[in-house]
Amino acid sequence: MAPRAQIQAVKAEFLDPTLYEDTGLSGVPRLSRGTLLGALSRAFDLAEGRKPGHAQRVAYIGVYLAGDLGLEPHRIEEVYFGCLLHDVGMAVMEPVTPPGIPPGRVRAGTVPGTNSACGTSAASWSEVIQSIARHCEAGSEVARRMGFGEAVSRAVLGHHDCWDGSGRPGALPGEQSPLISRIVALADRFESLLDAEAPPLALRRSGPAMLRDMAGRELDPDLAERMAVIASRDDFWLGLYDNDLGAGLMALNYGGVMSRDELFDLLGVIADIVDVRNGRAEGAGRRIAEMARKVALHCDMTERRADLLKVATLLHDIGTLGVPARYLRKPDILSVDEMSAVQMHPIYARDILGEVPGLGAAAWWVGCHHERVDGKGYPGMLEGSEVPAEAQIIGLCETFDALTNDRPYRRALPRSEAFEILRGLAGSRFDPYILARFESVAGPFDA
Ligand SMILES: [Fe+2]
Ligand SMILES: [Fe+2]
Ligand SMILES: [Fe+2]
Repeated sequence: MAPRAQIQAVKAEFLDPTLYEDTGLSGVPRLSRGTLLGALSRAFDLAEGRKPGHAQRVAYIGVYLAGDLGLEPHRIEEVYFGCLLHDVGMAVMEPVTPPGIPPGRVRAGTVPGTNSACGTSAASWSEVIQSIARHCEAGSEVARRMGFGEAVSRAVLGHHDCWDGSGRPGALPGEQSPLISRIVALADRFESLLDAEAPPLALRRSGPAMLRDMAGRELDPDLAERMAVIASRDDFWLGLYDNDLGAGLMALNYGGVMSRDELFDLLGVIADIVDVRNGRAEGAGRRIAEMARKVALHCDMTERRADLLKVATLLHDIGTLGVPARYLRKPDILSVDEMSAVQMHPIYARDILGEVPGLGAAAWWVGCHHERVDGKGYPGMLEGSEVPAEAQIIGLCETFDALTNDRPYRRALPRSEAFEILRGLAGSRFDPYILARFESVAGPFDA
């Protein structure tokens, strides 16, 4: 195939803007915490090295079990959020693989408490244990910063804890561990069996016996027995393997609809996680997003559109959760394979945002934030006006912020030098008009 035809094929395959059109783009959508985090949990799956939808399936299992136990609605919500966020702490660290097991081939249940340590670098046992403790603590802190209470952050902290008190340094044995924590731990453990036991019908047959086998050691015996009974029901399995499982969970609207400011706060925490993963200065993601909003207004976009661009910008690099952190922070030139992995991040982000009701346009902008007007960007090699103005604003603000702050591979440049570099990219990386508008508003950010 001729290069041009190849490029067109890539565009058709990866970047079809009609898939992301929002009819009557109206600004920031009204979203519940449960809807937003239900969709963004796909990014946490990437960080955990799990199959897409792992956190959503854990949430389904946890909510089903909590409902079966007759828990009150607000307690079921706590289970839901604990399940979705259980491994969010993996986003800020590099996964490790237990010794003797090939990277990415950790079989659930074979290594107590390490069922999610599906990583790329072999480690000693003490490193594995440290890794478990660190991601549980980091995830618990993230949950707190997102505004969740003690029950949810405690459940995230204890999702590797075993009934017998093993699994994590500091794990509480038996009923000393709160019920919500034990439900989340069981749901994660059970979903991990799905990962290990393919096809699903095999687990349908063997699951109850495996649960009873883990009872009293890894799992709360009463909960394990209850789950074993649930795992023999058709409706449980039909729900778990429903193609619309994610949409169904998001439609529950747990956590209530967020105001505009609450939405920005929650997304700010996500942006902070992305900063850590990318080795960026603290607050970079929030700063870039606010800058993008101001540039959008200066490009005569409406307040509502500028707000939506801020949402997109806060999430623009969420796809880097699917890229090994050591590539993102490498203080050297990346190999071809490493670069290919990094270049997947706009696609991951676009696909994740595309699932959120009302964020179709934002998903498209985010998917294009590394495109260049000269057609040499990625992932779709779009050209000229094919590159949305919003995507260029994201790329411009990100580039400027990167140039003017310390990065793992170089020191911060003076602003004058950064502007000089950007001017040199007019007509190649960026549209000269947007660049000129950016320059005219970038001054106030000096203060
Ligand atoms: Fe974990
Ligand atoms: Fe997990
Ligand atoms: Fe990026």
